[in-house]
Amino acid sequence: MTPRHPALVDHIVSREQIATRVAELGAEISEVYAGRELKLTCVLKGGFIFLADLVRAITIPCAIDFMVISSYGSGTQSSGIVRILKDLDAPIEGMDVLVIEDIVDSGLTLSYLLRNLETRHPATLEVCTLLAKPARHEHDVPCRFVGFEIPNTFVVGYGLDANERFRELPDIWSVDNSKL
Ligand code: IMP
Repeated sequence: MTPRHPALVDHIVSREQIATRVAELGAEISEVYAGRELKLTCVLKGGFIFLADLVRAITIPCAIDFMVISSYGSGTQSSGIVRILKDLDAPIEGMDVLVIEDIVDSGLTLSYLLRNLETRHPATLEVCTLLAKPARHEHDVPCRFVGFEIPNTFVVGYGLDANERFRELPDIWSVDNSKL
């Protein structure tokens, strides 16, 4: 496939692979939580497309809430500082909470988020991430559902951005920073 922009280097995950995997994850999640009601907690902005597709592949009742968290500055390196820019609208006490993430890199953002959500006493707290990089083991975050393990490279598309660009791409690409 020909990339739309010279900064897009390798085609990492195709739209067809994403569609197949999202359907599988939806079925798996529906089975694991059968007979219960799920609270999907989507981490914005990167998770918005994944959530939209995943929620339609889940066959049990679920409610949706959003959080905005910032762990990166404007570049492609983690700043090490995590801030909640928008919190959940409603309490999660006693609920089956599934955090929907676009990507787990070092795991810093997720480990902070999980510690924060634990203090609100959900009945269960699990994570579903579309993408996971090998570095996630640095912070040892438990991801119950993982879409794809990808190499340690910066990727964009299907909701993921580089400085707010490329979120709209249907496929996932690696990026050459020098050509951005
Ligand atoms: P972590 O704290 O290092 O795990 O980084 C997690 C957050 O950084 C994700 O939720 C993304 O917003 C962003 N991020 C990490 N890697 C990438 C990438 O390859 N492309 C786009 N965003 C990324």
